[in-house]
Amino acid sequence: MLNNNTDTLALLQTRNSHARLTEPGPTREEIEMMVAAGMRAPDHGLLRPWRFVAIEGEARARFANVLVESNKLLDISDEAKLQKAEKAPLRAPLILAVLLAYQDHPKIDRNEQIGSAAAAAYAVSLAANALGYGTMWRTGAYAMDPHVIGALGGKESDEVIGFIYIGTREGPEKPLPELDRSDFLSFF
Ligand SMILES: Cc1cc2nc3c(=O)[nH]c(=O)nc-3n(C[C@H](O)[C@H](O)[C@H](O)COP(=O)(O)O)c2cc1C
Repeated sequence: MLNNNTDTLALLQTRNSHARLTEPGPTREEIEMMVAAGMRAPDHGLLRPWRFVAIEGEARARFANVLVESNKLLDISDEAKLQKAEKAPLRAPLILAVLLAYQDHPKIDRNEQIGSAAAAAYAVSLAANALGYGTMWRTGAYAMDPHVIGALGGKESDEVIGFIYIGTREGPEKPLPELDRSDFLSFF
């Protein structure tokens, strides 16, 4: 657990994604802790434009069925694609789907609400890393698919901002990229 600001800064400066994730996954209590972090995302108008759906254990097979159905609804019958859909949710012990729960608002437009929900998804990822897990944020076509969004409890106007795959890291960590900060930072 993080207990000081140095640890917090190190987490922020060194987080990286990890694609190969295995058991054990987070406990229910740890999932609650991650969501508590997500819910502290900045939020114009306090709309709370996010929903978190935890897909773990057996539920991953049910979610795989949803992905297969969504292909079939699009008349996709390519066997390789269907098999990929069936396996996709098994790439980690837990997928925390972060949805944009869009609200029609006179001042706070969709972009702002997406910003908030994305901040929530990142906070969830950081919390998972702080708890010692690896994470990988994925989207793809399923994130905008009405069948998938509906199965996760979303409305037509919602979308999946991120499927955050979470589990124990397997294999070596990726090296951090060496970027020159001066390419990204200037002082006006
Ligand atoms: C909105 C969003 C969607 C993403 N979708 C995918 C995806 O579908 N598949 C994928 O391989 N990486 C996806 N990524 C990128 C990875 O999560 C990851 O950030 C990238 O591989 C770079 O690794 P790093 O986070 O360690 O720098 C997405 C990232 C974001 C922010």
